[in-house]
Amino acid sequence: MKKSSDKSIHSARKEEHLSISLNHDIDFIEKSTGLEKYYFIHNALPEISLEEIDTSIVVLGKKLALPLMISPMVGGIDEAAKINKDLAVVARECRIGMGTGSQRMAIEDKELADTFNVRDNAPDILLFANLGAVQLNYGYDIKHCRKAIDMIDADALFLHLNPLQEALQVEGNYNFRDLISKISAVCSGLKKPVLVREVGFGISAEVALKLKLAGVFGIDTGGSGGTSWIEIEKTRLSLSSLKKAAQFFGGWGIPTADSVKMVRESCPDIFLIASGGIRTGIDVAKAIALGADIAGIALPVLRQVRISVKEAISYIREIEAGLKIAMFCIGAQNIKQLKHNFNLRNVEK
Ligand SMILES: Cc1cc2nc3c(=O)[nH]c(=O)nc-3n(C[C@H](O)[C@H](O)[C@H](O)COP(=O)(O)O)c2cc1C
Repeated sequence: MKKSSDKSIHSARKEEHLSISLNHDIDFIEKSTGLEKYYFIHNALPEISLEEIDTSIVVLGKKLALPLMISPMVGGIDEAAKINKDLAVVARECRIGMGTGSQRMAIEDKELADTFNVRDNAPDILLFANLGAVQLNYGYDIKHCRKAIDMIDADALFLHLNPLQEALQVEGNYNFRDLISKISAVCSGLKKPVLVREVGFGISAEVALKLKLAGVFGIDTGGSGGTSWIEIEKTRLSLSSLKKAAQFFGGWGIPTADSVKMVRESCPDIFLIASGGIRTGIDVAKAIALGADIAGIALPVLRQVRISVKEAISYIREIEAGLKIAMFCIGAQNIKQLKHNFNLRNVEK
């Protein structure tokens, strides 16, 4: 295994990512999710009762109260243990899904596994394990993927794709060659479903199709417009040439709305998560009407849970209320009707 698996480099990087995320403004500056370009045709005569709207959905045999998950973030460092456990309580109380951050550090040092353990707090939530797909070029194989799943008793595995993020790290893993055949081998050998996600620059139609043919169960857009790894890594970089180059990538990436549409068009049946800049119940409604099955939110939940579990629960309840009201005002009784409704318009068309 490559020596860049040095524990101190990983934990320093994870600590910096967490601290920058919590203390700096790291939203995309030059890009939005594109969701603001859509609006629902208001239905003044919805002919349904707000109280009877059903936002529930079943994913991998687990019932969610609303089509939402907490996207993968932390693990491997001291602070992460409490954060993951608290996020799990939020997921349990609100009956939504959750992913942990990359488990690479705990694969390389068993003692860190507890920083990912959420099952004690949330035995039944829909839970996703997480590893960087690029690690399949740095000594990882299906055994490591199995370990990640078993470590936290996950329902499925996320492999994240992050070429731009790695490229902006002095210590990054740059070799993304032949990953598709390795992802395919993991999909066919693993008993649990594999999903592939970006971390904020979006998945295109072409990449989605390749992943589908490789056997992935689902895709998470991780589109542009929310938390930006350009802004996070720019804050960390001191190498002047790379830092200067990074400045010009502020507008890079596929906005979340475009990524959802592209993936859905190229893969009509794949399980699709819309994430990257999802912030409100209306965003969730729009993402689903555009073709997603569920939505994911990362940084805003992290910031709330750092204040308290109660604040994070209250934020998710706000999303739930917004989603229900949006569904009421377009006359969609349940998620199936929201997904197949024709009331979403693009303001530019
Ligand atoms: C502190 C932090 C750590 C993250 N770590 C991971 C990770 O380990 N694996 C992963 O797939 N995504 C990771 N992400 C990316 C998020 O899951 C998400 O794709 C991104 O933040 C965009 O969503 P947002 O706009 O709702 O924040 C991380 C995000 C943050 C803020």
